[in-house]
Amino acid sequence: MSSSRISLTRYLVEQQRHDQRIPAQLRLLLEVVARACKHISHAVNKGALGGVLGTAESENVQGEVQKKLDIIANEVLIEANEWGGHLAAMASEEMDTIHIVPNRYPKGEYLLMFDPLDGSSNIDVNVSIGTIFSVFKMPEGDRGVEEQDFLQPGTKQVAAGYCIYGPQTTLVLTVGDGVAMFTLDREMGSFVLTQDDVRIPEDTKEFAVNMSNMRHWDEPVKRYVDECLQGKEGVRGKDFNMRWIASMVADVHRILTRGGVFMYPWDKREPEKAGKLRLLYEANPMSWLIEQAGGAAHNGQQRILDIAPTGLHQRVSVILGSKNEVDRILQYHQEAAQS
Ligand code: AHG
Ligand code: MN
Ligand code: MN
Repeated sequence: MSSSRISLTRYLVEQQRHDQRIPAQLRLLLEVVARACKHISHAVNKGALGGVLGTAESENVQGEVQKKLDIIANEVLIEANEWGGHLAAMASEEMDTIHIVPNRYPKGEYLLMFDPLDGSSNIDVNVSIGTIFSVFKMPEGDRGVEEQDFLQPGTKQVAAGYCIYGPQTTLVLTVGDGVAMFTLDREMGSFVLTQDDVRIPEDTKEFAVNMSNMRHWDEPVKRYVDECLQGKEGVRGKDFNMRWIASMVADVHRILTRGGVFMYPWDKREPEKAGKLRLLYEANPMSWLIEQAGGAAHNGQQRILDIAPTGLHQRVSVILGSKNEVDRILQYHQEAAQS
């Protein structure tokens, strides 16, 4: 039964050996990230029995109240990754500034960014959550690492992925050669390849957005959702279905599995904020995965992966998923800009 199974380790070795997609250092780094995700998965599964539920008495740099698991997952990722010698520094949604690998450890040439625990509002209600990560190379030059080094456009990512902690724990990864999914085999303690070359259908009848914000949206987003809601009788001529899990990981996982559109658009409540989701920890890695699976991702004006970041915790409007639908929403933005 297990002889033909391809483990994450073997997948990465083959990416390195046959396709020269990834250098050995990056392969080892991804193994460490996967190990940290296993650790987080165990903590998540223990729930109340492990004392990991509930709120911590702290706020992150973005003014959000932290959950205990936000902090635990952040610590697990830092501890797992700082001694391996593959990284120069890390940045996290839960840390004010970058975490440089301490001098007692060798420094590598990669930068790791993560949202340690995505979908925090789902933790205490036992609904799917996840970890999102993104890897860049340090820019050339023999000097110390600075925050500026992290401000690279998403097109420069060398690896990106997420791990979803749901009914199954599944690691989803791209190194620029399509998208592969690995399910955690708890008995064996390893991630096993369960889907290779993931493709998103170009059309869909499903959209994911927090509808309670509708009155705050911009016209093009309202127009798109209005037309979906009109169903068969409206201009789209078909009925749509809505899904919102309140965890980007879970919503993107559904889209990678069966298509759909996900939006967290800019809204009028805090007009100076570009959006809710973070460019470096959430939007960039998810956009690359979506594009690698044949989908599209933009912010209403431009492709997310082309955005030149200006700040570590920068936010962005996000529209991603099935290509034809995302293109349609972009077209509505363009028509609104011209009128
Ligand atoms: P995080 O838990 O890392 O702060 O991210 C939550 C994000 C995202 O995962 C999700 O799509 C969205 O916030 C949910 O927002 P609402 O609470 O507005 O539904
Ligand atoms: Mn998040
Ligand atoms: Mn988070």
